[in-house]
Amino acid sequence: MKFHIMTLFPEIFEPILHSSILGRGLSQNLFEVELINIRDFSGNKHNRVDDYTYGGGAGMLMAAPPVYDAYQSIRASIAFGETVRTIYLTPQGTPFVQRKAEELSTIDHVILLCGHYEGIDERVLSMIVTDYCSIGDYVLTGGELPAMIVLDSVARLLPGVLSNEDSARFESFHDNLLEYPQYTRPEDFMGQKVPEVLLSGHHAKIEKWRREQSIQRTLDRRPDLLRNASLSKKEKIFLDELQKNTCNTEN
Ligand code: ADE
Repeated sequence: MKFHIMTLFPEIFEPILHSSILGRGLSQNLFEVELINIRDFSGNKHNRVDDYTYGGGAGMLMAAPPVYDAYQSIRASIAFGETVRTIYLTPQGTPFVQRKAEELSTIDHVILLCGHYEGIDERVLSMIVTDYCSIGDYVLTGGELPAMIVLDSVARLLPGVLSNEDSARFESFHDNLLEYPQYTRPEDFMGQKVPEVLLSGHHAKIEKWRREQSIQRTLDRRPDLLRNASLSKKEKIFLDELQKNTCNTEN
C-alpha cells in the first residue's frame, strides 16, 4: 500500500515516519509514503496557494488549481486497476473509526488531503474526494495531525507492521469492546495488588475475567459501543446484571 500525503507542510510528517513502529515498517518496505507539497503546484512565482473567499467572510481559502494539479500528479503515477481513495480531513467529515481504518488497509493507494486556512475550494473537493473524515468534534489548525492519525491507524494494520505477538492480541474496539486492564511487575505497587486471577495460570478463568473487565470498562466509559458489541448469552446476562447494579447505585 502507498500513502500519498497532500500538504503545505510536508516536514511535519518526517519525525513520525522515521521513528518507532512506522519508521521500522517503512524501512522494511511494508508500505510506502509520498509527501506532496501542494505549494509546488502554485503556478505563480510567489508560491501562493490561498485566496479570499467569494461572498466575503474571515480568512483565506486554499484555491482549487494547485490542489487539483497536485492530485493529478499523484494519479499519473498510479497504474490502471489499482484501488485508490482520496480522504479529505475535515471536522465536517464522518467520524473516523477503527472499522474505517480496517477498510482503508485493503486499498492500494490512500491519498490524504490536508487542508489549511479556512478550508479548500468546494469545486476541487467535489471532483477528487471520495471520503470526508473527521477525527473528532473539535477544530484543529490543519489536516496534518488528523492525517497522521489516519496513517498510523491504517499502517499498523498492514501485514508485518506489528510483530505477530502484538497483532494477535485483543485490542480495544475488537467486538466493539474496550480493552481490559493490564498489569506488569511489580506484583504489589504501593499496596495495590495485581488481580489474583492473573497469577493463577488458569487460562480459561483469565479469559473470562478479561472479557468481563472489557464489558465493565465499556459500560463505564463508552456505553454507546455496547449497542453493537458481540456478546455471548452469558456475557449478555453479565452486562444486564452490571446495568441493574449501576441503576441501583444511581437511585
Ligand atoms: N481539520 C481540522 N480539524 C479537524 C478534525 N477535527 N478532523 C479532521 N480534520 C480536521
